Amino acid sequence: MSNSEVEKCPTKKIPEYAFIGRSNVGKSSLINMICSDKKLAKTSNKPGKTKLINHFIIDKSWFLVDLPGYGYAKASKSNKKIITKIINDYFKKRKQIISAFVLVDIRHETQEIDLNFMRWLNNNYIPFSIILTKADKLTKKKVLENKKKYLNAILKEWENSPQIFITSSQKKIGREKILKYISTLNSSFKI
Ligand code: GTP
Ligand code: MG
Repeated sequence: MSNSEVEKCPTKKIPEYAFIGRSNVGKSSLINMICSDKKLAKTSNKPGKTKLINHFIIDKSWFLVDLPGYGYAKASKSNKKIITKIINDYFKKRKQIISAFVLVDIRHETQEIDLNFMRWLNNNYIPFSIILTKADKLTKKKVLENKKKYLNAILKEWENSPQIFITSSQKKIGREKILKYISTLNSSFKI
């Protein structure tokens, strides 16, 4: 189901997990990889592809949610405003969110826009994990180096780090770990 307003999202009270991050970071591709269905969520090499709140029901028992990305510099002012409102409303009003997953490109240093979003989630009491995407674009050594750098940046900000997952939608890396994590959370939460 796709919606522009959080009020119209599915009413079924089951655990929900949302993928969020900069536009083009690979949110929709990762949903497709996790669900083993390349055509489920729409992807594009141009930023700004996902424009709505997209609910995918998994095993009839939980939702995976694809959201529009933030930080697309070339979007018009009015579009940026609309996207910000969709994202903020969604996280503030959707009570069944068990956790957000903040996706960041593993090739980049910690960016203020992502840290700011994590601070905002934290201030709104929304638990989150971090997913480093596009690991296939780096060597294994660099992947581990960058994960460590990311962890250190997070620990400068908070006493404990959230979980940090490494993924590649192209090479199908990280699927099992994320599904196992969600499954553990599903079994420990009752809404
Ligand atoms: P918006 O909907 O615009 O916010 O973007 P998104 O975060 O959903 O990104 P999307 O999944 O559409 O992917 C953006 C581009 O990155 C596409 O060209 C994908 O093929 C590419 N991409 C996504 N994940 C990976 C990955 O793990 N490895 C590589 N090499 N490319 C990827
Ligand atoms: Mg998308």
